[in-house]
Amino acid sequence: MAFFTHLTRRSLAQSAAMANAIKNVTVIGSGLMGAGIAQVAAQTGHSVTMVDIDPVAVGKAEKRIADSISRVAKKKFGEGDEATKFVSESLSRLRTSTDAVASVESADLVVEAIVENLKTKKELFSKLDNAAPAHTIFASNTSSIPIAKIAEATNRLDRFGGLHFFNPVPVMKLLEVIKTSETSQATADAITAWGKAMGKAIVHCKDTPGFIVNRVFVPYLLSCIRLLDEEVATRADIDLAIKLGLEYPMGPLELLDYLGIDTIYNICKEWREAYPDMPEFQIPPLLERMISEGRFGKKIGKGFYDYKDQVVFG
Ligand code: 3HC
Repeated sequence: MAFFTHLTRRSLAQSAAMANAIKNVTVIGSGLMGAGIAQVAAQTGHSVTMVDIDPVAVGKAEKRIADSISRVAKKKFGEGDEATKFVSESLSRLRTSTDAVASVESADLVVEAIVENLKTKKELFSKLDNAAPAHTIFASNTSSIPIAKIAEATNRLDRFGGLHFFNPVPVMKLLEVIKTSETSQATADAITAWGKAMGKAIVHCKDTPGFIVNRVFVPYLLSCIRLLDEEVATRADIDLAIKLGLEYPMGPLELLDYLGIDTIYNICKEWREAYPDMPEFQIPPLLERMISEGRFGKKIGKGFYDYKDQVVFG
């Protein structure tokens, strides 16, 4: 008993030490995921730099973050001084940059949340690998690309893992932590401890297609698109059926619009290339048509539904 208590104390202390070790976080990408990760890191006491090559995107992400932190503050503290303090302290920990290389020079952890494209991710990490200190851990928030393939661009295979968040990051409690065959246990422990410090519930997963959630979730979304394409039911009835029949917070088509049709498309495209033998990731023709028509979802005002008054990125 004493032995186990000693071990528990030691592992708790190790975990706390590792969580403490990650203080400076650089998030690359200021889309819905990158901004959400940067926001939660700032809210939970980390010093954060959010990077995007596009200064306009950075400005829009800052606005979304400010709005979202206010919602979180209201939920936590109501309307008073404590809420104001939480918002201002959180925002004071967040910086922005358009220079990815310069922004990793004092990072303990770099979380990449850019477009789902292996070549682009590898080019980015290869540059960052030369600029970041030796101790810096690299992680990708990819939904579809094998972490080990991205890590190949660096000389820090042991300090490279996957951190897969869910949208909206400030609300969704889950974080999938992915260890490749080369990720060291110390790295896995450090990013797990950091995920807990971010307030997330952690699950661990091998570097497999879709990890745990998307392996089930993306084929489900694709099935719903096929139902619509086959005119089995209207979009509204498909959404209502799933929402009420399964007690999900959103119907699949409205959720696709919320996540970004282009995001799901890119996930499927990368999957098809990485895992050509898995039929569940085949892209339905309607999804292809929506991409060619530029119906990328709520963020640009049109997807399965129209959102002219609620454009996020317009
Ligand atoms: N920031 C902060 N708080 C937010 C927020 C945001 N961006 N969005 C919603 N909230 C909070 C609100 O303040 C509200 O708090 P309250 O309960 O105290 O009032 C609560 O969340 C509910 O928000 P709303 O009332 O505005 O709206 P809904 O009740 O419709 O909830 C939703 C919105 C949280 C998005 C909910 O519809 C939902 O959970 N949808 C499903 C999302 C989902 O499935 N995500 C996973 C996608 S898979 C993924 O990301 C993986 C990728 O690889 C594809």
